[in-house]
Amino acid sequence: MEKDTSETAAKRRAGESAAERVEDGMVVGLGTGSTAACAIDALGRRADAGLDIRGVATSFQSRERAKAAGVPLASLDEVDAVDVAIDGADEVLEGGNALVKGGGAAHAREKIVDAFADDFLVVADPSKLTNALSHPVPVEVLPDARTTVSASVEALGGDPVLRAATRKDGPVVTDNGNLVLDCDFGAIDDPAGLATALAGLPGVVEHGLFVGLTDEVHVGDDDGVRVRA
Ligand code: 5RP
Repeated sequence: MEKDTSETAAKRRAGESAAERVEDGMVVGLGTGSTAACAIDALGRRADAGLDIRGVATSFQSRERAKAAGVPLASLDEVDAVDVAIDGADEVLEGGNALVKGGGAAHAREKIVDAFADDFLVVADPSKLTNALSHPVPVEVLPDARTTVSASVEALGGDPVLRAATRKDGPVVTDNGNLVLDCDFGAIDDPAGLATALAGLPGVVEHGLFVGLTDEVHVGDDDGVRVRA
């Protein structure tokens, strides 16, 4: 079991706080990553206690976590709506509605589910908050488009790096069979403009800028949870 450091306690509090928003009968989008996993575990405990929910996973990882936690699952095409989605982020813009996501290479499915949800709740520890987004933007590309998208990203002022697998040789391959370019743009002055530019590149499946999608941010810390709209 993971040691409950200050950071893991903050993630746990954020996840539990967002999971408390879920009501009986709801369909819940299940995000990917260690903070979203805390929400999935909390939802599993609530399901054990009788809460009637169905979860829509955003990745292989979140589906496995939900199965272990006892959250009943449905696929996206089996539900008419997603009432609430709970997901983590790599960076959260303070005072603006923009995130960088995709540290787990799951941002394509995450964006589909998070954008479709009636309410999208972001869960984070304080290290994720920033006054200017500067985290490299993950861009999922069709394998054949790796070099052409890299050239286009450079033309946009970015520095693209093919994400490498950590436990074996070769690149990370997403759940969709694609590759990920981590694109460093330095400080991002215009997240919406960059999001539009990246989305328009042929061969881009999805990028990790989530602009204008967030309804609430649940930030856990040493003392409790701060929720901001
Ligand atoms: C996965 C994501 C994650 O939500 C993001 O990387 C944050 O992960 P963690 O909660 O482990 O810090 O976008 O694609």
